[in-house]
Amino acid sequence: MTPPLPPWPYPAHIAHRGGGRLAPENTLAAMRVGAQHRFRMFEFDVKLSRDDVLVLLHDDTLDRTTDGQGPAAAQSFAELARLDAGGWHSPAYMGEPVPAFEAVARYALANGIACNIEIKPSPGQESATGAAVALAARRLWRDALPAPLLSSFSETALAAAQAAAPELPRALLVEQVPPDWRERLARYDCVALNINQRDASRELIEAVHAAGYRIAAWTVNDPARARLLLSWGLDALFTDELTEISPP
Ligand code: G3P
Ligand code: MG
Repeated sequence: MTPPLPPWPYPAHIAHRGGGRLAPENTLAAMRVGAQHRFRMFEFDVKLSRDDVLVLLHDDTLDRTTDGQGPAAAQSFAELARLDAGGWHSPAYMGEPVPAFEAVARYALANGIACNIEIKPSPGQESATGAAVALAARRLWRDALPAPLLSSFSETALAAAQAAAPELPRALLVEQVPPDWRERLARYDCVALNINQRDASRELIEAVHAAGYRIAAWTVNDPARARLLLSWGLDALFTDELTEISPP
């Protein structure tokens, strides 16, 4: 017998890293650009500063997306907040700071925008980051709906999030779909499997649904591919192309 699908109170179009290509990733400016393009859900990456403040940053190091250098986990929040996280993208965003997760959560909540919080721990910080994200999300969202979707490539982080706030929905992020995806989704009591769009097929989407889970794909930047995946029943896609692939 096919198990029922879990609720999926999320839109099918998710702005990757807030504003896709149009704005510096993982900044508040990016979220505003995403919202201006009618996106009602953002994905962003969260990790801990040296003094345990949650911030938005994709890489382990600061070099690619800020004017800082070296591991992000070696810097305090006060140090991170002084960096320029926008100038690498374009002069219009020069001075845009590395945001605290809390600031982004408040922006999303105030504007009715759903969030996929990707737990992106610095090396060795997997459990601490998973627990910190889950507890902060519980405190910030309280009873606000929809609850944020927590996801991670790190199963250690996902397990820590599950232990800290079991009521928050989780998705397992995978670089490649493992043969035992059903067992892994069950282990972390996930609602969804978030896959690389390259691995998406009608068969996989149907198999994930038949197993009682939702399925989302990153990062879909080709409009024809986006239409095809959604026609196959994909629950959501992450995109960098906010003008070419936009919500209806
Ligand atoms: O969460 C979806 C996607 O963001 C995963 O890959 O490297 O862009 O964080 P990445
Ligand atoms: Mg991400």
